[in-house]
Amino acid sequence: MKAKELEVQDKDYIGFIRNIELTTGINLADYKETQMKRRLTTLRLKHGYSTFSAFYEAMMKDRSLFHEFLDRMTINVSEFWRNPNRWEVLRDKILTELSGSGSTRLKIWSAACSTGEEPYTIAMILAEKKLLGMSSILATDIDEGALAKAKQGLYLDRSLKDVPKDIAAKYFTEEGPMYRFDERLKKEIRFEKQNLLTDRFDTAFDLIVCRNVMIYFTEEAKHKLYQKFAASLRPGGVLFVGSTEQIFNPAQYGLETSETFFYQKIQS
Ligand SMILES: C[S@@+](CC[C@H](N)C(=O)[O-])C[C@H]1O[C@@H](n2cnc3c(N)ncnc32)[C@H](O)[C@@H]1O
Repeated sequence: MKAKELEVQDKDYIGFIRNIELTTGINLADYKETQMKRRLTTLRLKHGYSTFSAFYEAMMKDRSLFHEFLDRMTINVSEFWRNPNRWEVLRDKILTELSGSGSTRLKIWSAACSTGEEPYTIAMILAEKKLLGMSSILATDIDEGALAKAKQGLYLDRSLKDVPKDIAAKYFTEEGPMYRFDERLKKEIRFEKQNLLTDRFDTAFDLIVCRNVMIYFTEEAKHKLYQKFAASLRPGGVLFVGSTEQIFNPAQYGLETSETFFYQKIQS
């Protein structure tokens, strides 16, 4: 491709980024550019727009196109007990230590919770450990559509594939081709819309679970986010990240590795 053509394309995409930030508060520049641009280009071409500026104008007139864009940029893929052996570590080690460390209430946050599988996994584990009554669970995501699905609590069997059989039988009921999550546990979770990159965080968390979203962010955005998470944990609190999201040099955030993919805030 010629240099001039590339420059025009860059300007078109940069203009699109600016417009999206003005209308939604989401800064696409915080996300890895190659991946994001590829996904959005595929969507734009699928709808027959030759430029991002034409695509943006169309989105502003067509709500369903706008929602399709949001869906494509957020990537809501999730499942219960994602990477099961990490959840076993959470259950058998991390939660045992946190609940034995003197906190009268466990303050837990599932950040970028998508359609609810992650906070509901937390709720089931807490219920099994008889810790649910002494815990609060906040679950947040940037995507209102995902949060609405989370609150609905209906799932296809494929997202339950890693749930231990006895637990699935206890907390899900079959509803046609779908599975409905237990209403009593559902009530224990507070869902809220939140942009991790721009909004303020609550503090004094015992446990923050933030998995499979950091991979989409630029190094700079990730760095700021780790700082914000560390500031939001109580000393001794734990950050649980996704299985491709190891933090290199956690000490720079005042964290130390407690188990693979678990980082504990250093107590002074
Ligand atoms: C791949 S899902 C991960 C879901 C779940 N944590 C898991 O590991 O299964 C990524 C989620 O991050 C959310 N997300 C993307 N950018 C975000 C942001 N800036 N703030 C909050 N959530 C964001 C998306 O809406 C999506 O639901």
